[in-house]
Amino acid sequence: MNILGLETSCDETAAGVVEDGRRIRSNVVQTQFDLHSRYGGVVPELASRRHIEVVLPVVQEALDRAGMALDDLDGLAVTQGPGLMGALLVGLNLAKAVALASGLPLTGVNHIHGHVAAGLLDVEPADYPLAALVVSGGHTNLYQVRAPLDLKLEGQTRDDAAGEAFDKAAKLLGLGYPGGVRIDRLSEQGDPKRFDLPRPMKDQGLDFSFSGLKTALSVLVAREFPDRRIGEADLADLAASFQAAVVETLVFKTAALLDRVEVKGLLLAGGVASNRSLRRAMTELARRRGLRLLLPPPELCTDNGAMIAAAGYHSLLSGRRLDMAADAYSRWPAA
Ligand code: KG4
Ligand code: ZN
Repeated sequence: MNILGLETSCDETAAGVVEDGRRIRSNVVQTQFDLHSRYGGVVPELASRRHIEVVLPVVQEALDRAGMALDDLDGLAVTQGPGLMGALLVGLNLAKAVALASGLPLTGVNHIHGHVAAGLLDVEPADYPLAALVVSGGHTNLYQVRAPLDLKLEGQTRDDAAGEAFDKAAKLLGLGYPGGVRIDRLSEQGDPKRFDLPRPMKDQGLDFSFSGLKTALSVLVAREFPDRRIGEADLADLAASFQAAVVETLVFKTAALLDRVEVKGLLLAGGVASNRSLRRAMTELARRRGLRLLLPPPELCTDNGAMIAAAGYHSLLSGRRLDMAADAYSRWPAA
């Protein structure tokens, strides 16, 4: 079964074709970094407008690269939420129009289910249950995954998401947007032990809290660099120390989940999962526990259409269809 997946929940316009929920036939992503960078973050209204401009060419390119026409598809999947309302509606309305015109079945996908399904792409089928950490700009969630669309929430952030923390720290350090990638890059030259930052809620269950870490960084910068003149080497040390605090916290909580539940593998997903330090640390954690690690390549960790097609495959198989009157959801728990 070939499914076309469409994703417009935030600042990426993306479409991809996936066969049987596993094999990527095409995956086209158009980011909006150029559009939002001067504002230091995503401007929802601009995001929606850009989606409208580029969504048709992106879908066409996904079909072209897969060497397919609409006739060759077996179904359609679109992100129905959570995300920016206006942005979601662009994808949802286009998907409804294509479904009506083509007669193809259409299903609405939860964006988090999409991130999890990215871990199942282009790899041997997984054994369940899995432990999963989904870390993105809007979510920091620990799940037990019992089947591709069957998640049990085990822990979540009480305030900022990990990606949000990266983005805010980058802004504070004057690194601009997109923040996570810039901190990742700069950290490679920095000393992660130079500055002491907290590991929030370390011994308090499986929930996270990252807003205090951001404040701690801001206090640290004000104390160490009162004149705000921060040299290149200092900046790299600050970035590396901040990254280490986030990564260690994520790894510590994931290890705590592994202590509590018996699983067959560990899955890491979401934009922050493209962070190199986190990838190394999770690889080490899985090795120590003797667990299979499902870690998508960086381009499948950030938002894309293939992950929506993969989740959509399972959704269509289970008979879920999008009602033509259905709305998008800005909030929509995945479990
Ligand atoms: O999953 P995603 O593409 O979109 C959402 O669903 O939110 O995740 C975007 C988030 C942003 O906060 C971004 O800064 C972060 O993922 N991110 C990273 C890296 N690449 C993207 N954070 C740390 N290191 C990276 N290499
Ligand atoms: Zn995402």
